[in-house]
Amino acid sequence: MQLRELGASGLLVSPICLGTMTFGEPVAEADAVKLVHAAIDMGVNFIDTANVYEGYKRVLGSAGGVAEEIVGKALLGRRNDAVLATKVGAPLGAGPQDRGLSASHILREVEQSLRRLQTDVIDLYIVHWPDKHTPLETTMAAIDQCVRQGKVRYFGASNHSAAQLCEMLWLADANGWPRVVSSQIPYSMLRREFHNDLPFCAKHQIGVTPYQSLQGGLLTGKYRRSESAPADSRLAEKPAWMWELNDGLYDQLEGVEQLAGELDISPARYTLAWTLQQPAMSSLVVGAKRAEQVADAVAASQIAIPEEHFERVDQVCPPPWRQPDPIR
Ligand SMILES: NC(=O)c1ccc[n+]([C@@H]2O[C@H](COP(=O)([O-])OP(=O)(O)OC[C@H]3O[C@@H](n4cnc5c(N)ncnc54)[C@H](OP(=O)(O)O)[C@@H]3O)[C@@H](O)[C@H]2O)c1
Repeated sequence: MQLRELGASGLLVSPICLGTMTFGEPVAEADAVKLVHAAIDMGVNFIDTANVYEGYKRVLGSAGGVAEEIVGKALLGRRNDAVLATKVGAPLGAGPQDRGLSASHILREVEQSLRRLQTDVIDLYIVHWPDKHTPLETTMAAIDQCVRQGKVRYFGASNHSAAQLCEMLWLADANGWPRVVSSQIPYSMLRREFHNDLPFCAKHQIGVTPYQSLQGGLLTGKYRRSESAPADSRLAEKPAWMWELNDGLYDQLEGVEQLAGELDISPARYTLAWTLQQPAMSSLVVGAKRAEQVADAVAASQIAIPEEHFERVDQVCPPPWRQPDPIR
């Protein structure tokens, strides 16, 4: 795989990043450890986790920590093989200080993440969601402290708009704090509400690391009109994490499948290759249940989608694109 720059960090990352949100369930610990090793052996050098991830058991405010612990075990003896990203900010309990981007929460959680990950340093520390209760100055001063203490190397954002990223750059330059190097946003053919932010990221060397480019598996061709979902699929196992399928959505999925078929590649590979060719893309955060799914993503990173297909994808999946889930 040809490595890509992660924004202005100087880090070179594989165009596929292994997502770990399903570690614990349905990907049990032993399988998850094997999956991490298989991904590294395929050339994936970028792993994304979060303090809240605990697989399908996750409910709003539960304790989290499961995926980080598994990743920590998987990287024992292989720590230098991976650029390790984790996140802070999502709710981890019922208390008012159990969430958000206050100095209190960040400085507590960075210690918890380091312990669970069994590492001295987090390569990329990502603020998971905007926090309306905390001024960005407070958050960034806390991140700066983590960097100065050697606990964190680089600072990234997730689910933040270009205007918020702009404010982060502005504050970093004004105060000598670390600049934001990456932006993890939802981005798929079906969901492009951050599309107009991509040129800003390209211009300011913020590497975009989109999540759910396969839209949780919808864009892989496995869900067919008038057929029930495959038994081991996310739609069968965890429907709450999936969009409801309707005729309009099936039309789009079939349209994408037809375009992929013209190039004789699978919808999953077509979708991921298309996403990698969007502006500012550094690495796609892809969820995988099995090593074959990682292999599919790695293969997609070597495919070039012809220019004329971009307009045709827009015809199949026209705006307005889906907005973020209201729960968030
Ligand atoms: N920053 C944030 O707020 C945020 C939010 C969500 C996710 N994330 C990150 O993004 C990662 C990916 O999210 P995601 O897993 O929800 O989305 P996704 O990558 O769009 O979907 C992954 C799922 O699609 C199916 N799949 C993957 N490759 C396939 C293939 N080649 N053929 C058929 N099915 C395939 C698998 O599910 P089944 O086999 O079970 O069907 C897999 O678990 C997460 O692990 C996490 O690291 C970040």
